[in-house]
Amino acid sequence: MIFRQLFDPQSSTFSYLLGDESSREAVLIDPVLEQVRRDFAVIEDLGLRLLWSLDTHVHADHVTGARALQKRAGSQIAISRASGAQGADRYLEPEERVTFGTRYLRALATPGHTRGCLSFVLDDLSRVFTGDSLLIRSCGRTDFQEGSAVLLYKSVHQSLFCLPDSCLVYPGHDYRGLCTSSIGEEKRFNPRLGGARSVADFTGSMEHLGLPHPKKIDVAVPANLHCGALGTEGPATADPQWAPLSFSSAGIWEIDPRWLEENAASVQIVDVREPHEWHGPLGHICHAIAIPLGQLKERAAELAPDRPIVTVCRAGGRSAQATVILGHIGRGDCASLAGGMLRWCAEGLATEDARNDP
Ligand SMILES: [Fe+2]
Repeated sequence: MIFRQLFDPQSSTFSYLLGDESSREAVLIDPVLEQVRRDFAVIEDLGLRLLWSLDTHVHADHVTGARALQKRAGSQIAISRASGAQGADRYLEPEERVTFGTRYLRALATPGHTRGCLSFVLDDLSRVFTGDSLLIRSCGRTDFQEGSAVLLYKSVHQSLFCLPDSCLVYPGHDYRGLCTSSIGEEKRFNPRLGGARSVADFTGSMEHLGLPHPKKIDVAVPANLHCGALGTEGPATADPQWAPLSFSSAGIWEIDPRWLEENAASVQIVDVREPHEWHGPLGHICHAIAIPLGQLKERAAELAPDRPIVTVCRAGGRSAQATVILGHIGRGDCASLAGGMLRWCAEGLATEDARNDP
């Protein structure tokens, strides 16, 4: 099976991509809106087809990426019926299976953090995705969203702690850098729910957590009650409009060579190779400006402020770095030529070579 644990540093949220090797069908658990571009790029890199985004619950600390992925990847949205969310393609009941290729996840009802919390256990019981019901050495809070400490204790003990000790626990969040645990570990070491702790011990501790109100709750909960639908997409999620760019899993905006050839006049082409390469066998693109990467920061002022920039190098590595450098000095309107001059030439696109240079 293909498995990737993804992280959103702003909300400390984990998302999980699971794919079936042979059919390439995949599911993504708890996507984060601000990471949808990245997640989609990873899905493309791995040659997967996203069937479902699954939310373990209505989150209070981030907006789900389910709706944005539906638009971008054509995936469907599933969440528990008990969540009360509107606009999903499928409302899951406890014990229902979500199939991808030859594999499936089984929904476990684990209410308590919210009324509609689900965990998802993999078909062979090797992994469980616990959302905020069971965190590593911790658990989700129970003081809002119809939370109940009594219910959470029951959920963890009756639905999660009866899984095999070897079953790996993948939580919805971690704030201390722990990524994975196991049922056996949490049964022994979870300071709230493990060992011999009773429901009274647990409810007593949960009443006195003294946690602040989540910063994003007023935005996140209404949006998540509609599976991530917001009135308008914010700057963090709206794509640049000046060209049909693609976002790589390395975090770089890239532009297709053929689009660039047809639209060269609308952008500034900056070739960041060294002078000997500019005059070398690959030649260079007509009307490109030569600024070696090492000089780019100092010479960026030579570039027109009102025309987007396309950076170019031999294979696409240095030009990617050039977009990072330009981004740091406020030029968000730039992209790297995908595949560099190697691909440009391989596609038979026009160049000027050194012999035509003055
Ligand atoms: Fe939560």
